Amino acid sequence: MREQFIAILGHDLRNPVAAIQNVAQLMLRMPEDNRVQRLGRILQNSSLRMREMIENILDFARGRLGEGISLTLTEQPTIEYLEIVIAEIELAWPQSTIIKEFNLHQHIKVDARRISQLFSNLLSNALHHGDSSKPVTVSAGIIDDSFQLSVTNYGEPIPSEFLADLFKPFSKGKNQHGKHGLGLGLFIASEIAHAHNGSLNVSSAAGTITFRLEIPVILS
Ligand SMILES: Nc1ncnc2c1ncn2[C@@H]1O[C@H](COP(=O)(O)OP(=O)(O)O)[C@@H](O)[C@H]1O
Ligand SMILES: [Mg+2]
Repeated sequence: MREQFIAILGHDLRNPVAAIQNVAQLMLRMPEDNRVQRLGRILQNSSLRMREMIENILDFARGRLGEGISLTLTEQPTIEYLEIVIAEIELAWPQSTIIKEFNLHQHIKVDARRISQLFSNLLSNALHHGDSSKPVTVSAGIIDDSFQLSVTNYGEPIPSEFLADLFKPFSKGKNQHGKHGLGLGLFIASEIAHAHNGSLNVSSAAGTITFRLEIPVILS
């Protein structure tokens, strides 16, 4: 019952949030006015967060209702939809530096919308939870017959005893002063990885944190 209510509410919130995001993007195309730009960025940042939360809650409720993550596999140009996610995040975080290390010319058979959702969760985590004054590096490529996508940010090292728990629902790591989130993003991201027969891992070294997706691929 509660899950059904969440599922309906989440679904109905999608359209108004999309409308807000569209308005934000229109505002950001009005370069002549600085105030409009600033307000547009705030709207873009907030509506992106709302959209991610809604998608994560919807997926969580669906999982509880017994419907796992279902995939629609297509062979779209991978780099193109990864670039769209990066562009969205850059609009929301104009001061950020995102370094791209893409070495990917093949089209990989995945659910592009799901991989975008996973990537969006990882990339906004990097900016929300990491040191956003330092660059975030995104790598994508085919290594040893698997599609690998990783996001690395600087930040306080996460103690190893917390690392595995981050992928559990409602897990929010250690110190969460003033950082609001549901703690569902990494859980959903790892569910998306598993649905693709892949994995999502985290490692922490030399002041950086890396989340890496690996999906086995069959290249034609
Ligand atoms: N890139 C990152 N750098 C540092 N800490 C992170 C990063 N990504 C996730 N975390 C930690 O893992 C927790 C869980 O992340 P997530 O499941 O996305 O939930 P939320 O972002 O809603 O808190 C975060 O609250 C944070 O403590
Ligand atoms: Mg998150």
